[in-house]
Amino acid sequence: MKSEKINFLMGNIKKIGILTSGGDCGGLNAAIRSIFFRAKTKYNMEVFGIRDGTIGLTKRPVDVEKLTHETFKGYLLRQGGTFLGSNNKGNTFKFPKNGKVIDNSDFIIEGYKSLNLDGLIIIGGDGSMQILKKLADKGKMNIVAIPKTIDNDVGATENSIGFHTAVYAATQALDNLQSTAASHRRSMILEVMGRDAGHIALNAGIAGGADVILIPEIKYSIDGVIKKLNEMKKNKIQHSLIIVAEAVKKEDGSKVMHKYMDGEKRLGGIGDYIASEIMKKTDIECRVTTLGHVQRGAPPTASDRILASAFGVYAVDLLANKKFNRMVAWNNRRVVDVAIDEGIKTYRDVKRDDPLVETALSLGVYIGELK
Ligand code: F6P
Repeated sequence: MKSEKINFLMGNIKKIGILTSGGDCGGLNAAIRSIFFRAKTKYNMEVFGIRDGTIGLTKRPVDVEKLTHETFKGYLLRQGGTFLGSNNKGNTFKFPKNGKVIDNSDFIIEGYKSLNLDGLIIIGGDGSMQILKKLADKGKMNIVAIPKTIDNDVGATENSIGFHTAVYAATQALDNLQSTAASHRRSMILEVMGRDAGHIALNAGIAGGADVILIPEIKYSIDGVIKKLNEMKKNKIQHSLIIVAEAVKKEDGSKVMHKYMDGEKRLGGIGDYIASEIMKKTDIECRVTTLGHVQRGAPPTASDRILASAFGVYAVDLLANKKFNRMVAWNNRRVVDVAIDEGIKTYRDVKRDDPLVETALSLGVYIGELK
C-alpha cells in the first residue's frame, strides 16, 4: 500500500478494536500482537481488545482491555489460542438467551458504539465473517477482516491463520504413531479435523508418510483400503498409517456424528468406523487416535506466526487508509486485500486437480477410488 496515500488519510483513525471470533487456532496471538505494534508504531493509535468475540460487547460495561506494550512482554507470540478469548457458539442475530433465541444485534451495536472506536479488526473464519459483516452493515461499523481457520477453506486466500499449525500437529501425531504401529504390526488410524474440507488430512498425510489418506472430497471403498494394506503385507510391511478427515462418510454415504452430553451432535467417529470395517474383513489389528483440539491449541508454527504478523500489519494499514469491508488474503507470496464478501462466498475444498492429490498418488498412497 502506498505510504503517501496512507499519510494523506491518517489522523482520522485513532482508536481501533480487535476481536477474535469462531474456533481458536495457532497464530491468533501473533496477529493481535502484530496489529498492536503496527497501530502504535506507525499510526500512534490506541488499541483495544474485545474479550470473547461479540460476547464482550454484550457486557455492561463492555468487556475490553486496552492493549499496551506490557501486554506483549511475555510469550504470547508463541502461544496457541487467543488471549482475548473467542466464541463459536450462537449467532448475534439468533442468540440463545434464557431458553429463547433472540436477535441481539442492537444490543451488541450499542456496546460497540459505547467504545467510540474508529474501526475494528475482526479475526475469524467464513462463518464469523458473515455474521460480523452483517452486524457491521447494520451498525455502520468500520471493519477489516483477517481470515483464520485450521480448515483452510476460505477460498479467497491461499492460506488462513492456523492451518499450518494444525497440519504440523497432525504430522507430529503420525510421526509418533509410526513407531508404535511398527512395534505392534498394527494399522494406526488418525482422525483429524477440517470440517467438510480435507486439507489437513491431505497435507499432514503427505508430510507424515501416511499409507492411506481419506478425505471427504474423494470417494473411497473399504475394499480399496484393504487392498492397499494387503499389498503392503506382500512387500513385508505389516504396519501402516491411515489418516482420515472427520467429515469422511461411511461407505453407505451416511455422516458419522458424535452426540455430546449437551445433546449437540458434532463430526467425529469415522476413525472407529474405518477400524471396525477393516477388522471385520481382515486379521489386521487397528487402533484409532482422534486428534481433536490438539490441532487448534498447539503452539503456532513459524509459518503461522509469519502469516499472522504480515496479515496484522496489512489489516491496520487498510483501516488507516479507510479501506473498510476488506479482508486480507495471501496470494502469490504476498498479502493482498479482497472484499469481505468474497472471503465469505468463496469456499475452497480439495479439488481433484490439486497437485497434492497427484503427489499422494505418486507416493503410492491410497486416496480413494480415482479414475
Ligand atoms: O472449524 C474449525 C473446527 O476446528 C473444525 O475443524 C471442527 O469440526 C470444529 O471446529 C470443532 O468445533 P468445536 O470447537 O465447537 O468443537
